[in-house]
Amino acid sequence: GKRIAVMTSGGDSPGMSGAVRAVVRKTLDSGGISYAVYEGYQGLVDGGDMIKEMRWEDVRGWLSAGGTLIGTARCMAFMERAGRLTAANNMIEKGIDALIICGGDGSLTGADKFRAEWPSLMDDLVSTGRRKKHEVEHHRHLNIVGLVGSIDNDLSGTDATIGCYSSLERICQSIDCIDATAFSHKRAFVIEVMGRHCGWLALMAGVSCGADFIFCPENPPSENWQEDMCSIIKKHREMGKRKTIVVVAEGAHDRQLNPISPNMVKDLLSRKDGLALDTRVTTLGHVQRGGSPCAYDRMLATLQGVEAVKAVLDSTPDTPSPVICMVENKIVRKPLVDAIAKTKEVAANIARKDFEAALKGRDAE
Ligand code: F6P
Repeated sequence: GKRIAVMTSGGDSPGMSGAVRAVVRKTLDSGGISYAVYEGYQGLVDGGDMIKEMRWEDVRGWLSAGGTLIGTARCMAFMERAGRLTAANNMIEKGIDALIICGGDGSLTGADKFRAEWPSLMDDLVSTGRRKKHEVEHHRHLNIVGLVGSIDNDLSGTDATIGCYSSLERICQSIDCIDATAFSHKRAFVIEVMGRHCGWLALMAGVSCGADFIFCPENPPSENWQEDMCSIIKKHREMGKRKTIVVVAEGAHDRQLNPISPNMVKDLLSRKDGLALDTRVTTLGHVQRGGSPCAYDRMLATLQGVEAVKAVLDSTPDTPSPVICMVENKIVRKPLVDAIAKTKEVAANIARKDFEAALKGRDAE
């Protein structure tokens, strides 16, 4: 049977362990041999026990686990060709030439580069005497399949990344908790949420919790956002609202790309000559990332993990590496390189202050 390895890479997200479980079990179900690479790319470079054969029962209970039970890391050695050569050697030692990776866009880009380089790595293994010619003969092609695991929901081409809805749920629960205390004291809270360069978590959490104002990088506020925000909040207060919630994405900035920080917002809301609100800042931090995955993420991880194994079994040397996506409630395969290129295009438009183009890029998806 086919030997298929699964790995998690980059920041963990709820549902990653469920994705590993699905890949392991579908591999075994299809008559293959399953391996898990521990500690991300580092495990691939270290080899040995870090690439572990997995049995059906090894992943029991993993569907409801938070984080990733096979570990993850940011690996410097894999950035160097020497590291990738060692990784390739470790894989050949175990007869593995198919790798399913669950991670963010950086991890998936690295994987596709590894695939492109693979034939030349095989040549190097033979020419440096680390492998005999016949050992690499059946492994001339590396199969890569991507699964998108990230709380940020920051990949173009998929409606949801594995983990984003669990994170959103946790943020909403946290804001509900804050709501109660804010109401009691008639306070304002400025809540910073994660998302790196992407405002999806901030926007969806703000909508779901009825926030008074939301700052996210894709749609920076107008020049005079200070007055706008204060007049909206003033109006809400005049209507009898006892609490104020402002959600700020980690990467929020104005149209000139100057960062908008939670403390700046707090200072504005608490100004004695302005709204004079008793204001606190809460940075939700990594509670947004850990914890048990919600039902949607368990389902996404399972269906996509199964599809990833199917994609490995269907692939030919000419098939471009796929990434498994969710589009309008259907699990689909898309060329990995295209999905990442589109994601980068939106980010580049934001960096060029071309916000209209950035929004169009998203809407076109
Ligand atoms: O990509 C996931 C994420 O949680 C982002 O939202 C955040 O910007 C980043 O990772 C934090 O990274 P670290 O956990 O390495 O500090």
